[in-house]
Amino acid sequence: VTGTTTILLVSGSLRHGSVNSAVLQTALAVAPDGIDPVIYDGLGDLPHFNPDDDVDPLPPSVAALRAAIASADAVLFCVPEYAGALPGSFKNLLDWTVGGGEIYEKPVAWINAAAAGRGVLAHESLRTVLGYTGSRIVDDACVSIPVDRATIGGDGLITDTDVRAKIAKVLTTLSGSATR
Ligand SMILES: Cc1cc2nc3c(=O)[nH]c(=O)nc-3n(C[C@H](O)[C@H](O)[C@H](O)COP(=O)(O)O)c2cc1C
Repeated sequence: VTGTTTILLVSGSLRHGSVNSAVLQTALAVAPDGIDPVIYDGLGDLPHFNPDDDVDPLPPSVAALRAAIASADAVLFCVPEYAGALPGSFKNLLDWTVGGGEIYEKPVAWINAAAAGRGVLAHESLRTVLGYTGSRIVDDACVSIPVDRATIGGDGLITDTDVRAKIAKVLTTLSGSATR
């Protein structure tokens, strides 16, 4: 089978200089042949989820999110932990995915970029929420890759070769379980 696997990359941080966003920018740089990673950058544009607004015509930013998920073969999340949970803005994004159904049965995974042993509660919560959306969690691609901020270069990319190799492996593993 030939072809390209499209992986949508979703950061859970809005912060300029975000470590989680740097992981996903690095994923763009290290993606193996046959994998087409696409950055989702609309997190900050989404309105607060309200079921009353989950009707046609959808808010344009929500329609764009759902279209991006629909056109991807898989989704990779990289999300910080805030106060023992998922960042509110990111949970808001996940809430918008429930009604659309585009993420249903979609292969999904995450990279926990926090220091070893940290961010665990956020990722347990992410597993729970993704379970409710009916997405297919690819456990082999859900990994902890601690990232030292000092290894993020001026171009926003992670320079550590071991980290870069681990990110590339996640893309390969997730892609391998995403067949159209
Ligand atoms: C409001 C707030 C709450 C945080 N709570 C936690 C936490 O509960 N557990 C944790 O491991 N880190 C926590 N952190 C640290 C962030 O997860 C860490 O700074 C991370 O690098 C932020 O991701 P980013 O660099 O992609 O923005 C918190 C940071 C902020 C700003």
